[in-house]
Amino acid sequence: MNAVLKPAVSAPDWVRHAKLIEWVHSIAAHTQPDRIYWCDGSQSEYDRLCGELVAAGTMRKLNDAKRPNSYLAWSDPSDVARVEDRTFICSENKEDAGPTNNWMAPTEMRATLDGLFAGCMRGRTMYVVPFSMGPLGSPIAHIGVELSDSPYVAVNMRIMTRMGRAVYDVLGADGEFVPCVHTVGKPLAAGDKDVPWPCNPTKYIVHFPETREIWSYGSGYGGNALLGKKCFALRIASTMGRQAAQRPSGSPGWLAEHMLVLGVTSPTGKKYHVAAAFPSACGKTNFAMLIPPAGFEGWKVTTIGDDIAWIKPGADGRLYAINPEAGYFGVAPGTNTLTNPNCMASLQRDVIFTNVALTDDGDVWWEGMEKETGGAPAHLIDWQGKDWTPEDGKAGRKAAHPNARFTVAATNNPALDAQWDDPAGVPIDAFIFGGRRSTVVPLVTEARNWVEGVYMAATMGSETTAAQAGATGVVRRDPFAMLPFAGYNMADYFQHWLNLGERLQASGAKLPKIFTTNWFRKGTEGEMSGKFIWPGYGENMRVLKWMIDRIEGTGGGSEHVFGISPRYEDLNWTGLPFSAQDFDKVTSIDRAAWQAELKLHEELFAQLAHRLPAQLPEVKAQIEARLAV
Ligand code: GTP
Ligand code: SPV
Ligand code: MN
Repeated sequence: MNAVLKPAVSAPDWVRHAKLIEWVHSIAAHTQPDRIYWCDGSQSEYDRLCGELVAAGTMRKLNDAKRPNSYLAWSDPSDVARVEDRTFICSENKEDAGPTNNWMAPTEMRATLDGLFAGCMRGRTMYVVPFSMGPLGSPIAHIGVELSDSPYVAVNMRIMTRMGRAVYDVLGADGEFVPCVHTVGKPLAAGDKDVPWPCNPTKYIVHFPETREIWSYGSGYGGNALLGKKCFALRIASTMGRQAAQRPSGSPGWLAEHMLVLGVTSPTGKKYHVAAAFPSACGKTNFAMLIPPAGFEGWKVTTIGDDIAWIKPGADGRLYAINPEAGYFGVAPGTNTLTNPNCMASLQRDVIFTNVALTDDGDVWWEGMEKETGGAPAHLIDWQGKDWTPEDGKAGRKAAHPNARFTVAATNNPALDAQWDDPAGVPIDAFIFGGRRSTVVPLVTEARNWVEGVYMAATMGSETTAAQAGATGVVRRDPFAMLPFAGYNMADYFQHWLNLGERLQASGAKLPKIFTTNWFRKGTEGEMSGKFIWPGYGENMRVLKWMIDRIEGTGGGSEHVFGISPRYEDLNWTGLPFSAQDFDKVTSIDRAAWQAELKLHEELFAQLAHRLPAQLPEVKAQIEARLAV
């Protein structure tokens, strides 16, 4: 059956879900697309849509000899990142969204959206994109259907999720799905010529947690438009995980987290699993694909996920994590064969690049690649389509946007873990929370217990990056790296973590250890002034190994005001010239700086005071008392 249908004509015969069909037609009646297209998720469909995107000028095909089956899209210069100030959690009760989320009353927001969406798809095709977050048909997966007038969204969703016809088999005639509606917000009148990257200066990224709906208006950018990712797998899913803990069944609920998940195997073959929450553009993809350096022969790191983890208690009381995604939407700048060879290998073919530069031979380039070759190419076309030379680079003009991204299937990753799509998930041995801080925060600290770990995660600060619209480099609290992604009140979220830990501990289970890290401390004098002191990337293995030693009870460390950190002699330094003085620069704890830092914790707690768990200010008071001695 032909999948291209006029609005008001029924769905293809492989869609048997009457309510879904009715919903698709009601959205079409309101948004008035010229056509409805039901995606089947096939390779031929992907190739055809990419071809159409090339014809429309949204994407260009890269040189097949250099980068087979790959494309480059350049966005509108105003549509390059997530828009946190336009992101809303519209719970019935404002307090349920909490002070860290934007809120509007659902009725008011629905009226606003009604107006904006009326006729918004005129002149365009509405793509019906069925997707599963988590392995298709597995008991832990959840299904969504995204209606979008962007073919760029449709092809990206095919890489990032399990997208296609098989989803309808799982849904059957009456399965549950999260309805997601997305528009670029740029209807076309008859005869209008489209632009390469349609979008609208007005943007709304809206979540109704109670009815589990997502509405996105005005942007084509990743986190704003690929609604399975941040909107569903984090904001809606975090709400679902907490709701599960509030039912009479007595379930402890589950967690949806902004975390990579990796496996690390020792030379003796013992395997550990670590989940790490770093804020946007703070190193998750890189850590998840780490290659152990010299001195770590026989160690192996494998990737389960690079951005999102769904974590549930198993029957044995341990926490099991799955990656609900099927691809990586990763930061290109900074990535090269020296910092992340696994990532570069993943990007050899079948990639969609967005906002990187184009080389004269039809390949891609971004800042950081000069480290491989000793310099930038003599000529490029930058992400805005303008000529670029290394002189422009010296003058501070970037060839790639700092938040330029790649979209690639997880199966392209040579370090992909054999269990990456195991519906049972992998048991977590340690959680890491790591911000980007040029000062104050030491390289690594182990929390003494679950509550102190939750405190450290809750009060984490990080410098803003290009992943969100707005100023970069500004320190803000980013609790659990979830500030932009928690679908409910952040204080309730802290309580959910505390409750879960308490429940698991009471059941006699061994809880994962909790660590915090900071790869980003900068030098203050001499030639290291303003530069990262810690070499980072693969060298982060040295810290990861110390964590495993701590789990095994063999690692040394010294206790300080807020936890335990390694001494110089507690890390393996084979193959890395890094002196005890260097180590001191990345681990020192400055009393005055920490007293100032605790004032910032205080500000967060004041903001969240209404529902803040009492245990957190208690931990703070203990740290303050120790600092005062
Ligand atoms: P999102 O996809 O936005 O959630 O980001 P992410 O947390 O996956 O960050 P990613 O690994 O893509 O890294 C973001 C930027 O930080 C890139 O430019 C990296 O090169 C850089 N980076 C990653 N790890 C390190 C590190 O250990 N040290 C330093 N100095 N930079 C790093
Ligand atoms: C992030 O910003 O944390 C990302 C990229 O992972 S996006 O999907 O665009 O949100
Ligand atoms: Mn992310």
